[in-house]
Amino acid sequence: MITVRAPATSANLGSGFDVFGVALERPADVVRVERAEETTIEVTGIGSQYVPEDPEKNTVGAVARELDAPAHIRIDKGVRPASGLGSSAASAAAAALALNELYDRGLTRRELVPIAAEGEAVVSGAAHADNVAPALLGGFTITTANRTTRIDASLPLVVCLPEITVSTKDAREVVPASAPIDEVVETVGSAATLVAGMCRNDPELVGDGFEERIVTPARAALIDGYDAVCEAAVEAGATGVTVSGAGPAVLAIPERGRTRAVAAAMVAGFEEAGVDARAYPTRIGDCARFA
Ligand code: HSE
Repeated sequence: MITVRAPATSANLGSGFDVFGVALERPADVVRVERAEETTIEVTGIGSQYVPEDPEKNTVGAVARELDAPAHIRIDKGVRPASGLGSSAASAAAAALALNELYDRGLTRRELVPIAAEGEAVVSGAAHADNVAPALLGGFTITTANRTTRIDASLPLVVCLPEITVSTKDAREVVPASAPIDEVVETVGSAATLVAGMCRNDPELVGDGFEERIVTPARAALIDGYDAVCEAAVEAGATGVTVSGAGPAVLAIPERGRTRAVAAAMVAGFEEAGVDARAYPTRIGDCARFA
């Protein structure tokens, strides 16, 4: 039996829709695999009642097919489904790493990125790799059609998770099909600023780099209280706030020494809108590991 623990992740970071992602220090999924004639899946843990065990419908079933690696796969969910924290990606990345080892496929972590992304297609309809890349490689990642680049960034973060769910599929439907050139220019500027900030571990630059007016406002409309949360976080000392992945989690970069204040302000912001939420301080974290 092979066991792998894969971290939650936060994708997009505002200006990097379907491109940027970071691994989070916590929470994480744990996946155990054993060889079998055909793939079967068992799911336990947080929100497991919402995760299908049918291999045709579960993210890890697609990964097992891609690797031609039938197995009995047990998923212990630590990352809540439909949270915007890469729940399906954590399971897919862990399964890809575990099955690669179980069947001695010899693929590198980078080569496993597109395979794990196929698992994402089962859940959201698109094989986006911006969650599975940081789950497999750790740190901050930039994924394009033919390249994944990893930057070993280290920054404190605050994640605030409200008691509402947003499916990635629904959140992808509100993304505009095109955008005016001035908003595209602004997004390129933000994305470049964010990458410079990640290279320097600079919370000011990364926070500025969250700015984006094409995808984020459309997604924010699905999250009750989003504007109040952003305002409260900035007032408490966040350099930037944005939707984490497809939402509803909200991600903030705290100025040094302001982590707790930002976390409390975000929870209060959701409360103002009548939404229960919890916030937890975390950091850009490490990659999936064998346990
Ligand atoms: N880039 C994806 C999206 C991430 O925003 O739809 C989903 O977690």
